[in-house]
Amino acid sequence: MLQIAILGFGVVGSGTAEVLYENRKQIADYCGDEVNIKYILDLRDFPDHPLGDRVVHDVNVILNDPEVVLVAEMMGGAHPAYDFTRAALEAGKHVVTSNKEVVATFGAELLEIARTHHASYLFEASVGGGIPIIRPMQTDLASNEILSVSGILNGTTNFILTKMKNEGAAFADVLREAQQKGYAEANPTADVEGIDAARKIVILAALAFGVLADPNRISTKGITGITQEHTAVADKLGCAVKLIGHTEKIDGRVLALVSPFLVPAANPISHVDDVYNGILVDANMLGRALFYGAGAGKLPTASAVVADILDVLSHRASERRLPAWRVATAEDMASSEDYVCRRCYLIEGCQRCAAKAKAALGTEDCVFLEGGTFALISRPMSEKDANAALASTGLTPRFCLPVLD
Ligand code: HSE
Repeated sequence: MLQIAILGFGVVGSGTAEVLYENRKQIADYCGDEVNIKYILDLRDFPDHPLGDRVVHDVNVILNDPEVVLVAEMMGGAHPAYDFTRAALEAGKHVVTSNKEVVATFGAELLEIARTHHASYLFEASVGGGIPIIRPMQTDLASNEILSVSGILNGTTNFILTKMKNEGAAFADVLREAQQKGYAEANPTADVEGIDAARKIVILAALAFGVLADPNRISTKGITGITQEHTAVADKLGCAVKLIGHTEKIDGRVLALVSPFLVPAANPISHVDDVYNGILVDANMLGRALFYGAGAGKLPTASAVVADILDVLSHRASERRLPAWRVATAEDMASSEDYVCRRCYLIEGCQRCAAKAKAALGTEDCVFLEGGTFALISRPMSEKDANAALASTGLTPRFCLPVLD
C-alpha cells in the first residue's frame, strides 16, 4: 500500500480523492500497488464524507509519519502552503501541487530543496487545469528550443468573455456562475485582473527559458475594462477578444505578459471558448503545437494532480527531476514596450484622420464603424514605436489591443 496525504480538501483536493477512488483499479495497476489516502489536512471536519476519519488538523502528524511518501498540496494561497511544502520536501517526501501561486513565487527555491532531499516537486495541475502541458514541455519537447508560448490560461475569464460575446451576458452574472461551477479562485480578483494568468505564464516561461520571473512584476492587464464595444470591434474584424499570456525572448531577454488580445479567426486560439484553455507552443523543431482542454474545474484539475501522483509513485526508485530554475533578475527580463506585434486601435474621427493614422501605423487595414469611429490594425511594431507614431498624428485612441497572429 502506497500511503499519501492530501493538504486542502476543497474543490481540487476532494476531486483528487474522487479520481483516486473512481479509477483505483487502473491506478493500482499503473503504480504496482494500491494508493491510500492516509491523511487529509484541513481546518474543517468532514463527518459525512467516507474519508472523514482521515482528517487531521496538524501538519506534523503527516510530516512525522514515515509511511507517508507523497503529499498532494491543494490548499491554494501562498501561506501556509509554501511552508508545508518546504517542510514536506525537507522531510524527504515527494510533493505534487495545483498551487500556481506557490510554484510561480517559490518554484525555483522549492525545486532546489527537492533536489537536495532527493524528492520530487511536480505541478502539472498548476497550469492549464487538466491539460497535459508541463510534462510535455519538459519531456517531449526536451530536444527542442522553445521559441514562444501563448495561450488562454484562465478558464474563468474565458468563460466570462465567451458568455459576454455569445449571450451579451453581464460580467457580474457570469462571474457568479463561474464561481458556482468551481472555476474561479477564492478571490476572483486574481482571475479577472489577470493575476492567475500571470502566475501561469511565468511558470511556462521558466519551463521554456529557465528563469522564473516575479509574477507581480510582469505587465498584467485583466478583463475588467473589456466592454461590448471591444467585442463588437473584434467581431467586425473577424477576431475574438481573449485574455492571453505570452512569453518569448527578445534579444536574449525574456518577455512575459498578460493582456486581452484580439485573436484572428485563423488562429486556433480564437475558437477556444467557455472554460477551455488553449496553449500554443512554438518550438524550433516541432513547429507549432496546440494544447487544448478543460482549464479549470474539479475533476479536470484533479486528473492532472493524479497524473503527478502516478508519475512519482510509479518511479519509486528515483525522483522525478525538473531542471533547475534561476530566479530572474531585472536584466533577464524584456520590457513589454519592446514586444513587436500588430495592434488594433479604435479611434474617433473622419476619413482624413484615418488616412493620417494609416500612414503613421504603416497599414491599409482599416474599417469604419457606426458612431464616427474607425478601427485599424497596425503593421507589426513595438508598443513603444506604435504609440509614438500614433501620438505624432495628434489622435487619441479609445482603446488599443495587441493582436495574436
Ligand atoms: N481560477 C483558475 C481558472 C482555476 O479559472 O483558470 C484553474 O487554475
